[in-house]
Amino acid sequence: MNPDDLVCLCFRVSRRKLEKFVRLHQPEVASRLSECGSAGTGCGWCVPILEKIFLKQTELLDQLTPEQHQSGREVHLQAREGETPDSQRKDSPL
Ligand code: FES
Repeated sequence: MNPDDLVCLCFRVSRRKLEKFVRLHQPEVASRLSECGSAGTGCGWCVPILEKIFLKQTELLDQLTPEQHQSGREVHLQAREGETPDSQRKDSPL
């Protein structure tokens, strides 16, 4: 993922924005990254990535493509009872 790629797809929060938040605010716990554009408070798919950004362990994140991240989220949403992937929602532009 590049700096401008979205980590939190629910709230459209980029990697750059999250890494800047960590650098400037030095949060004590990963959950405080939710204060950065509500990241992680939607479907929860991005939470493991938020934890990696919090811990500054971004090696795997460098290898993850936006397409892999998006398709993984689709599977995540399908696995959740009562959830429908964004691409299949009638009200979604995707
Ligand atoms: S992708 Fe971040 S909460 Fe859904």
